[in-house]
Amino acid sequence: TVNSGLANEVIAWQRQHGRHALPWQNTRDAYRIWISEIMLQQTQVAAVIPYYERFMRRFPTVQSLAEASSEEVMSHWSGLGYYSRARNLHRCAQIVTAEYGGVFPREPEVLGELPGIGRSTAAAISAFAYGTRAAILDGNVKRVFCRVFGVDGYPGERKIEQALWELAVSLLPQENMTAYTQGLMDLGATICTRNKPACTSCPLNERCIALQSGRINELPVRKPK
Ligand code: ADE
Repeated sequence: TVNSGLANEVIAWQRQHGRHALPWQNTRDAYRIWISEIMLQQTQVAAVIPYYERFMRRFPTVQSLAEASSEEVMSHWSGLGYYSRARNLHRCAQIVTAEYGGVFPREPEVLGELPGIGRSTAAAISAFAYGTRAAILDGNVKRVFCRVFGVDGYPGERKIEQALWELAVSLLPQENMTAYTQGLMDLGATICTRNKPACTSCPLNERCIALQSGRINELPVRKPK
């Protein structure tokens, strides 16, 4: 298809220029991946790393987290913010332990029903842990797609978001889901930033409608007042 090139470019870029040594990479342990994705939902990588390492030392398995007291879970989260994430994390560990024998489900549709795991986080966990072909669409990835495809509406609007999800699904590669998923995240976080994106270093610059039409600063469309 016209777009199979995009996935290949993201994968090749990730292998050369993406992040490879974050503490939650180079593992297929769904528990470790899940903890990292929840911490990273609203917190930047550099702030997450020390919390992640401390959390994993204290709660190395989903069972150990399920059995801990709420107080101890909260004390290991303290400082990260958005505390409903920690409450959902604890409940989720108890459900996975009691109902799934301590094994995270493989299917993104099932993962997405667990507390604190939305569609994009479910897809990320499933792709990183199991190699599943499932599309992510977090805030950074929305920005990449709005620019590359010149999406003109506000991405928080339901119809636009629906269109972005369809686009995200249509772009999925047949293989290399880990590199592709991490590559999209890394592009959004390090190259295709909200302000002053590094377009000269972007593997998608030749196909980027916003760049080619001088609309990088206009896309994505801001929230209408
Ligand atoms: N943000 C969300 N998930 C991430 C990941 N796996 N690596 C880096 N940043 C992320």
